[in-house]
Amino acid sequence: MTWIHYAANILWCCMTWICSPVAKVFSMMLPLQGAQMLQMLEKSLRKSLPASLKVYGTVFHINHGNPFNLKAVVDKWPDFNTVVVCPQEQDMTDDLDHYTNTYQIYSKDLQNCQEFLGSPELINWKQHLQIQSSQPSLNETIQNLAAIKSFKVKHTQCILYMASETAKELAPFLLESKTSSPSGGKPKAINQEMFKLSSMDVNYAHLVNKFWYFGGNERSQRFIERCIQTFPTSCLLGPEGTPVCWNLMDHTGEMRMAGTLPEYRFQGLVTYVIYHHAQNLAKLGFPVYSHVDYSNEAMQKMSYQLQHVPIPRSWNQWNCVPL
Ligand SMILES: *[C@@H]1O[C@H](CO)[C@@H](O)[C@H](O)[C@H]1NC(C)=O
Repeated sequence: MTWIHYAANILWCCMTWICSPVAKVFSMMLPLQGAQMLQMLEKSLRKSLPASLKVYGTVFHINHGNPFNLKAVVDKWPDFNTVVVCPQEQDMTDDLDHYTNTYQIYSKDLQNCQEFLGSPELINWKQHLQIQSSQPSLNETIQNLAAIKSFKVKHTQCILYMASETAKELAPFLLESKTSSPSGGKPKAINQEMFKLSSMDVNYAHLVNKFWYFGGNERSQRFIERCIQTFPTSCLLGPEGTPVCWNLMDHTGEMRMAGTLPEYRFQGLVTYVIYHHAQNLAKLGFPVYSHVDYSNEAMQKMSYQLQHVPIPRSWNQWNCVPL
């Protein structure tokens, strides 16, 4: 950082300090502006993988065009303790839309994290919202905040997976103890006469919505439409020329929504789609990751077959509803 940036930073901090007397009691809130700060943040988060994976991935996409118009806020700079990534305030106008009202969090200090998240202007606890993090240790912090801020919380914990190409590049130490699967990381062949690899048309968002575990309502449908329109998707078109199997990314860059129509299951189609989708995303330089529920053995087997690296307990979502 040059001295000009440093001076600008100090000036900015002083202004925040003077202008927001309430916030200063708890901690400072610093929205990171400009490409240089955000690139520094990405580099710094990269050193804390895999604990920082969800925030790292989200910041990666902020730095590559920011298609979901998100912002990153830290408690101090450059030696931050806690990072929060979320939409701009003007994009969180629907109090019930927890798909949009989503906060990604990474923290090096849980005490600081609780104080920071509790500071008055950062999170609007009066809304239905989601908190997501690759750090299971945040559970206690969020349960404490639920008592202080009066909201109900539902915690979902899953296995986080990093694609092996991504792990090779970003966190090779995760691969050291790995034995590779007998498939060599490749899917079985599919009937190419019957199925065509394609990308998802937004007109089929309702199919994704119908089978998405977290979906099934109007707000999730809108969220899915936005995901289809924003990031690369992958699907197989069946004999009728319509999608029978698909995979989509969410706003954090996670491969988040995979599904197969019931009548086409148990043929390895989703493995094929996810494999090709992951290859395409890796070619674009995207970090590739996903999650699987502890009860979903079929998808765990699939992740093993494709040599995705499991990071237990590291996909966490807290759904918060004001009391
Ligand atoms: C999260 O915290 C709550 C409340 O303390 C507890 O009941 C729950 O078991 C915790 N979840 C996990 C996965 O540790």
